[in-house]
Amino acid sequence: MKKVIIIGAGLAGSYLATQLPQNYDITIITKASAQDSNSMLAQGGIAASLDPGDNPASHEADTLAAGQHRNKVAAVDQLVHEGPKLIQTLIKQGMPFDHQANGALDFGLEGAHSHHRILHAKGDRTGLALTTFVQSQIEHVHWQENTTAVELLVKNGTCYGVRVRHDPTGTFKTLTADAVVLATGGLGNLFPLTTNDATITGDGIAIAARAGAKMADMAFMQFHPTLLSLHGKCFGLISEAVRGAGAILVDENNTPIMAAVPKKDLAPRDVVARHLTWWRAAGHQTFLDISAIPDFPKRFPGITANLDRHHVPFRTTNRIPIQPGAHFMMGGVQADLAAQTSIKRLFAIGEVACNGVHGANRLASNSLLDCLVSAEEATKVIAALEPAVTPALPQDPTTIVPPKLPSLADLRQAAWHNLGVERTKAQLHDFHTWLAQFNYRDLVPTQLSPKDFTIANLCLCAELIDTAALKEPKSIGAHYIKEVAHESTAS
Ligand code: SIN
Repeated sequence: MKKVIIIGAGLAGSYLATQLPQNYDITIITKASAQDSNSMLAQGGIAASLDPGDNPASHEADTLAAGQHRNKVAAVDQLVHEGPKLIQTLIKQGMPFDHQANGALDFGLEGAHSHHRILHAKGDRTGLALTTFVQSQIEHVHWQENTTAVELLVKNGTCYGVRVRHDPTGTFKTLTADAVVLATGGLGNLFPLTTNDATITGDGIAIAARAGAKMADMAFMQFHPTLLSLHGKCFGLISEAVRGAGAILVDENNTPIMAAVPKKDLAPRDVVARHLTWWRAAGHQTFLDISAIPDFPKRFPGITANLDRHHVPFRTTNRIPIQPGAHFMMGGVQADLAAQTSIKRLFAIGEVACNGVHGANRLASNSLLDCLVSAEEATKVIAALEPAVTPALPQDPTTIVPPKLPSLADLRQAAWHNLGVERTKAQLHDFHTWLAQFNYRDLVPTQLSPKDFTIANLCLCAELIDTAALKEPKSIGAHYIKEVAHESTAS
């Protein structure tokens, strides 16, 4: 019986589990519970050109323009053509996307889309609704919750398994498989201000890099413009769908911040995040003015609950305090269109992967779509694999390597300062030197505490971003170098 290990329980991993033949032996490993993932937190929706007036070519053009044409065109092609078919199947299976009063699907608008094409569910709880629906379709999977993948087992360029830590007991075990699939999400918690779930700490990228997998496009970290911002801290996302519904970005004097920029408040995310950063650097506060949205709580129930939880008086002020924060890694473990990485039998799907679809800046609501499409493509290749021959398992090294690591807080502050919305070559070089004093590359994962393992992984991710950023000759998309400013006005 073919054995497949899926690391990560978000939309990509869960959807893959529904698509693989049900006579396979499938294990999903997840660090916390099946409910903890970025997918569950996704608000705005999932983009697909299903409206009769829309078409895949338009979705493709928008994806390429937002990505500054750094995208792999074949990957975009696959996304915009295959994605709608998978969504139609989900709808037939009963996925409850929101509809208009006349019974037609309700398509929202988000930044840099030239058409209303964002399907949503339960208002702004699309990720929760979609991932829960997909998980409800899973049969015959062994769930290993509270379990962290610490090391990929690779011999002769082929992955044959994974070392995992059962976190409540601290015990390690080795799992072998015919295919191992990374579906761990990105690395948002490298930064102190982030939309990401607390479990998203770059593990998939780090264990793949340590195993020798090739990485791609790591310079491109997306900062979402609008995180709820209170007293210098962030408390979750305010979806771009809010701007799609008519909200605008203003300062404390109600001056519209994006008025002079092409596409204004619906410019690509990298452009909006930079403008907010400049405005704030000039000493201003930044808000979403929601006065143009009738019945905000009805359309955005999840965001409303979060605002109420934090006692934000948006009903009287019509304003939500926001600032940019880390959201999505466009780069990751290099994968082809079938999710095959540079290591045989190791696959990568969803945010952990870089198949080139997002280019230098991901278009809004393309990530859930990519989770479905990349998982679907991986299914075909995994099904065609011959059974693996498992080599003798390696012994753990006996020499203890004591960790020399920064504190998590110092690392995150340094990452924000040096790898953030704006970068300078000098900062990138300094950060490289700062990281070099730590031994995160040489550590033995099974000798580390969970906290040190996380810090080591985030250090490695930081290094990968820094190194990739230093190799980018000029600003493009989400990678913005102050000295050689080349502002995007993607239309
Ligand atoms: C949002 O709702 O603004 C986030 C959606 C996305 O990241 O595509």
